[in-house]
Amino acid sequence: ESLLFTRVNKDTQSLPVSVEDWERQAREILPDGPFDYIAGGSGAEETLASNRTAFSKWAIVPRMMRDVTNRTMGITLFNQSLRTPIMLAPVGMQAIAHPEGELATARAAKEAGVPLVVSTVSAHPMERIAEVMGDAPRWFQLYWSNDREVSASMVKRAEAAGYSAIVLTVDTIMLGWKRRDFRNGYSPLREGKGMANYITDPVLCSRLTEVTAENVVEEILKNIYHPALNWNDIAFLREQTSLPILVKGILHPDDARLAVEYGVDGIIVSNHGGRQMDGAISTLEALPAIAKVVAGKIPVLLDSGVRTGADVVKAIALGANAVMIGRPFLFGLAVAGEKGVASVLDTLIHELDVAMALSGSNSVADLNESILVRV
Ligand code: FNR
Repeated sequence: ESLLFTRVNKDTQSLPVSVEDWERQAREILPDGPFDYIAGGSGAEETLASNRTAFSKWAIVPRMMRDVTNRTMGITLFNQSLRTPIMLAPVGMQAIAHPEGELATARAAKEAGVPLVVSTVSAHPMERIAEVMGDAPRWFQLYWSNDREVSASMVKRAEAAGYSAIVLTVDTIMLGWKRRDFRNGYSPLREGKGMANYITDPVLCSRLTEVTAENVVEEILKNIYHPALNWNDIAFLREQTSLPILVKGILHPDDARLAVEYGVDGIIVSNHGGRQMDGAISTLEALPAIAKVVAGKIPVLLDSGVRTGADVVKAIALGANAVMIGRPFLFGLAVAGEKGVASVLDTLIHELDVAMALSGSNSVADLNESILVRV
């Protein structure tokens, strides 16, 4: 009660209170190119849409009279205690949303105690983002390079800069087919927005005859197309780091089984927010079969379409250990920089707290399928 009361009276009244509102404001501020790049999906955007409808196909059946006074949203992931089961998904090139890009996001994440996953194609070097975060929790997301010494170098830099897990994104062996970007003639990579980690990488630079922006972009594009990626590459990655390794972009239960077999430490059920394989299954629909196969052996995270506290409850009840958000915080960043990301997180965390209380749940461990029905 007091929490809701303070919120209504805070100076937050002028800030949006829903992801839809943030998106509307971002639409007004950003030019078509960046806005469509952020908001859009691939192909006919069927997967983008189904990531949302999947959540409305499940309804919460709340439990009553369970004394939820001392409830907690806390979880433990890879021996790290986290305040909530919410993380910020790796999003590259954040300078297209706001000039401060990842640095503003990093400050907000640190303040909220929410882990940030930094992308290989971040607009600022990973070491600079790490500086902003101090000892706040952060992971590094790796885009595999054809030149695997470049991958090795990035992973070692991340470990040295205090990142505590490596997320290998496996659904982006080439870029998804994005009609909106074709229409707008827009490519943030071509514009040089996601080069920071490459241009500062000693191995990548050693491959260039001359370090010019143009040469670096060409080298990145060569590396971003990496269709040869396969499960044996996990062993190479394992040799480079002692950090936990997660694979991001798993949708098939057989791949989840292989991830466990190949000794991966965690799975992120993701379709890249509907930006890669259009027509792919929504993540919430993919989750139960994957959770069943994994059977608690390693953590299972989910992203793509999470927008509200109730969404978080549903994903966890269906077997996720935690969730990540992408576009919601990016819309906040576009509209209000650090303050926007902070507000998006604050809203989502409060929504989750209320949703847990009103569904009769005292802890994340309490959330299971018994409070869900298919509608
Ligand atoms: C992404 N995503 C992404 N994923 C990744 O592994 N590395 C990256 O660099 C990026 N870059 C990126 C840019 C933009 C603009 C978006 C919107 C997304 C995917 C991201 O990590 C996540 O999977 C989705 O954003 C989750 O879906 P929602 O929350 O956006 O619906």
